[in-house]
Amino acid sequence: MKNFEKTEAFCSAYGLGMPVIMAPMAGACPAELAAAVSNAGGMGACGVLPLTPGQISIWTEKFRSGTNGAFLLNSWIPGPEPTRDYNHEELLKKFLSDFGPEVPLIDARNLQISFEEQCEAMLEARPNVISSIMGLYEPAFIEKMKQQGIRWFATVTSVSEAILAQKAGADALVVQGSEAGGHRGNFYTAYDQSAGLMALLPVVADVVDIPLIATGGIVDSRSISAAILLGASAVQIGTGLLRTPEAAIKSSWADAIKVTRPEDTITTRAFSGKPGRAIRNCYTEAAHKKDSPIPTSYPVQRALTEGMRLKASDENKIDSMQAWAGQAASLAKDINAQDLLRNLWNEVEEKLR
Ligand SMILES: Cc1cc2nc3c(=O)[nH]c(=O)nc-3n(C[C@H](O)[C@H](O)[C@H](O)COP(=O)(O)O)c2cc1C
Repeated sequence: MKNFEKTEAFCSAYGLGMPVIMAPMAGACPAELAAAVSNAGGMGACGVLPLTPGQISIWTEKFRSGTNGAFLLNSWIPGPEPTRDYNHEELLKKFLSDFGPEVPLIDARNLQISFEEQCEAMLEARPNVISSIMGLYEPAFIEKMKQQGIRWFATVTSVSEAILAQKAGADALVVQGSEAGGHRGNFYTAYDQSAGLMALLPVVADVVDIPLIATGGIVDSRSISAAILLGASAVQIGTGLLRTPEAAIKSSWADAIKVTRPEDTITTRAFSGKPGRAIRNCYTEAAHKKDSPIPTSYPVQRALTEGMRLKASDENKIDSMQAWAGQAASLAKDINAQDLLRNLWNEVEEKLR
């Protein structure tokens, strides 16, 4: 019974039937998947990074038409303005033309949707939770969330970040291990100091006193159970949901996930300029060769690779696709999200009760 004390407190605080949160996955989090997770008793999620305020409200409406359950909206905290090196960008354009269409001129003014407007749209959508990654919200926004009764989950990748986020007023911490698929959340600790969840979670659990949500490499009931034993009140699953039909990702990506071993993933800046874990493919292999031009900073690199990424997606070609995946990818199952989560949670209960 003791094993479930924290998870039960978490579920009752957030109105959940199981302590499982869908990872917000910008570009791969359709409302149908989020609603299915909520209907199974977990918490649905949306990564709003590529969405305009109007699209955030459409996503929310769609989600609410499928469920009355809890959901979370997530945004990236913007970094400093990128510095441009046009000569180097020319080298990158030439390199990228081997993998996609010719790269047009990148206009810095059109690189990102307004973060302030996205924040306002998230408040208007009235989710149960707003989560952050790659930084912490400003005090004024935290205040607004709290006034509206919206809770804040801050993604952290180290003990130092956990202490900073707790101090800033986070209600819970998403502790992201280096196994995680997609972008790394580091905002204070250097990327090469990233730790795996097994080491990170219990050490963070010893120094903060708010609930911890474990994420990174959690795909089956063994890793969920382990995370609970290591001090988590809940888990957040990303790659483990990508093969469900509701995720509706490209078939070549879903097929690749099935056969991706831990060593077949790579942390790379080659897609966006920020480090993220993806399935190794022809493009990442070439981009990591010694004599290839090093990626430029975010969001310029993301803009430079846009044509290649869209083409790969349109043509369902894994060779140059931005195919994010965590290290435990091959354990992901291709069954519907509700059955998947119910089975997982039943197995955890059998293991830990
Ligand atoms: C396709 C994809 C997109 C992601 N996009 C976001 C995002 O927009 N915001 C965020 O906080 N995390 C994002 N992540 C990271 C996840 O929230 C989470 O940390 C990660 O999926 C956990 O590792 P796992 O994939 O092994 O479960 C993304 C992950 C994936 C796989």
